[in-house]
Amino acid sequence: MRMNFTILLLCGLFACNQKQDNTLVWKQQVDSLRNRIDSAYAPGLGEFMSDIQVHHAKLWFAGKNGNWELANFEIGEIRESIDAIQKYCTDRPEIKELPMIHNPMDSLITSITDKNTEAFKRSFSRLTVTCNNCHQVTKHAFNVIKIPDTPPFTNQVFEKP
Ligand code: HEC
Repeated sequence: MRMNFTILLLCGLFACNQKQDNTLVWKQQVDSLRNRIDSAYAPGLGEFMSDIQVHHAKLWFAGKNGNWELANFEIGEIRESIDAIQKYCTDRPEIKELPMIHNPMDSLITSITDKNTEAFKRSFSRLTVTCNNCHQVTKHAFNVIKIPDTPPFTNQVFEKP
């Protein structure tokens, strides 16, 4: 009886030890994963902005030429970058100013849906003013955005195919 009890106790202790070992291994794995996530590459705000800059330019030539399908695509790309900034750039205090872009974006989307060139041009100007307003309030007034004069790429057709 006593022998059985001792065996049982030893088994219990062994199981407990195993459990502690497992917890340790699990903790180490979590730490290692956390380190990998922390050092994983994530685009910064400047990179998202450069991306927005490209689509802002493409959008102008698409809308100006009444290529509404392309315009719709380009504004979708801007929208994705805005969402990504909100998600990935939480370390940047400037992003609290980001919501100022929603209203001009909405008007622009409406003008594209309505295929209304005049409304598109007006809304595009308003969006561009908003880019600069945000740059001013976030101490980046030296980054001045304007309506582009020439298409940003010569290897893409902006007119309606
Ligand atoms: C949150 C407010 C905000 C809005 C809205 C905003 N920007 Fe920016 N933008 C910034 C900040 C902050 C930077 C500096 C980022 C950095 O530190 O690299 C910047 C940088 C830039 C740059 C310079 C990127 C580089 O690395 O050369 C461009 C180009 C740019 N923005 C374009 C735009 C355009 C186009 C729009 C409008 C469609 C826009 N931005 C709207 C805040 C904003």
